[in-house]
This record gives sequence, C-alpha cells and structure tokens, in this order.
Amino acid sequence: MVVEQLVRSVQRLLPPGILLQVRGESTRSVALSGARLEQVLLNLVLNARDAMPSGGAVRLSIEDRGEQLVLAVTDDGVGMSDEVRDRVFEPFFTTKEPGRGIGLGLSMVHGLVTEVGGTVEVASAPGKGTTFTLCLPAVAPAASTPSEPRLVPSRRAKILLLEDEPFVLRAIQRVLRAAGHEVTSAVDGAGAEEALASAGDFDLLFTDAVVPGTDTSSVIAHFLERHPRAPVLVCSGFVREELVRRGIRAGEFFFLKKPFEPATLRAAVDEALGAAPQGS
Ligand SMILES: Nc1ncnc2c1ncn2[C@@H]1O[C@H](COP(=O)(O)OP(=O)(O)O)[C@@H](O)[C@H]1O
Ligand SMILES: [Mg+2]
Repeated sequence: MVVEQLVRSVQRLLPPGILLQVRGESTRSVALSGARLEQVLLNLVLNARDAMPSGGAVRLSIEDRGEQLVLAVTDDGVGMSDEVRDRVFEPFFTTKEPGRGIGLGLSMVHGLVTEVGGTVEVASAPGKGTTFTLCLPAVAPAASTPSEPRLVPSRRAKILLLEDEPFVLRAIQRVLRAAGHEVTSAVDGAGAEEALASAGDFDLLFTDAVVPGTDTSSVIAHFLERHPRAPVLVCSGFVREELVRRGIRAGEFFFLKKPFEPATLRAAVDEALGAAPQGS
C-alpha cells in the first residue's frame, strides 16, 4: 500500500473533532496490504483520540529510511503508567469501560505488523502523551508495482454468518459455500449465541453491523472470547466513518461496504482470513 494514499484514506475515516497532522511523506509502499495498514493506523489514531477526551491533534510522522518506513503516531493525551504500557499488546487488555473498548486493537496491530517482519514500539508516561512507532519493511517503488501484493488463495474456513435480511443471507451463503467455506448462519443475536455455544470452533465471524435483538458489539465480544485470534468482518450499508461515529469500533475489524459484488465479498473474506495469526 502506498503510504500517501493511506494517509488520505485514514483522514477520510476519522470521526469529526480529530485533527490528524501529517509530517513527512513517502511515495513508497510497505509490505502490508491497504486494508491492513488502514486498520493498523486507524486503531492507533482512535486510541489517541480516546486518550484526549478534551480533543487535540494526533500527529502522524512518516520517515523513509530506504529499507524501512517508520510511521509514528503521537498524541499528547493522558499517557500510560509503566504497568499499563507493558500490557498494551495483550489480547483483551483494556483500561476502558465496557462498550468503549474490548482490548483487541493493539494486539491486532502487533499481529499484523510483526507478521510482515515489522516492529511496533510504544513510548509513554502519565500526563506526557504517547507515541507508537512502527517500522515496516518497504517494498519496491509504487511505479513498478502493478497492484497490491497478491493474497494467498483462500483456505477453507468455518464461518459464522450473522445477517437478518433473508435475501442477503442466502446470497452471501451461496458465495461463501462456492468458495469452499463451511457456513453456519444466524439471523439474530440469539441464533448467533446458540451457534457459538453449540457449533464448535469458527475461523471467522461475518456479521452485519446492525443485528436484531442484540447489540452487534456484544456478539463480537462473545465470539472473540471463544476465538480470540479469529478475524471479524463487519458488513454494512453505512460507510465506515458512520460506523465509527456510531461507536462500532470499526477500526478493529475488517469492513465490507454493502452492497457488494461476489468477487468483493470473496476478496474481503480472503483478506480477513489471511490476517489471522499463524497457527490459529
Ligand atoms: N494513545 C494511548 N494513550 C493512552 N493509553 C493508550 C493509548 N493507546 C492504547 N492505550 C492503552 O492500551 C489499552 C489497550 O488498547 P487497545 O488494544 O487498542 O484496546 P482498547 O482501545 O479497546 O482498550 C487501552 O485500554 C489503553 O489503556
Ligand atoms: Mg483501541
């Protein structure tokens, strides 16, 4: 993903009231696909926002060091104690109240970055703000890269599908099954809970952003309690900006905009499955 394009797309996704100041530039690409890099940066920026309850600017600096691109996200928010700082990358570690955070953002950032041979570090002190620094391997210049790095073909996955609109549900089932996946479907929160309790292990949760009879984020949280390393793909007719505003922490999940073509659906599922850490 070309870093310049990425910055523009992250800016577009920011909820109102956050100012992102960008310093430095690079027309180079890094070894993370656009969707993953977007997710990484969005997570860091949303955390920075949460750390600045009375507002402020988030700074993104980009430094081209030849073999590596160094991206740093800095806020001058509340900062962290040493105890918190040492645990931030742990899955489910959060200091936020229920509904505000489930503690998976940074563990996902860490997984995505280290998977491509990059590193992520944090510097912070209470009252002194926070900087997350990512070092990512650079790849060949954009001009000679015809497209995003190809994803490995989809592996067979067991997918929990949650969608209340029967027509859409059937269409998604068809595409996923044709791609070789095993699909368990639910049309509401109760059905999803039942599937989670009885249908064994899943590799992916594919859910509509709005589900009758439940709050989508609680289904996601229950899914992740059982499958902490499995990816979540949220689809919605809203644009992602709107989901972020509605409090769905869209930056933490893969996102697919409705309506979609079968090929886009397959690609989104491949992308999400590819991001699952090895061995899970
Ligand atoms: N920029 C930041 N400033 C202060 N604390 C942060 C920052 N980023 C992350 N944290 C701390 O790390 C914890 C884990 O972050 P994360 O994995 O994104 O989960 P969540 O945002 O759901 O809590 C947060 O709850 C918070 O305590
Ligand atoms: Mg977070």
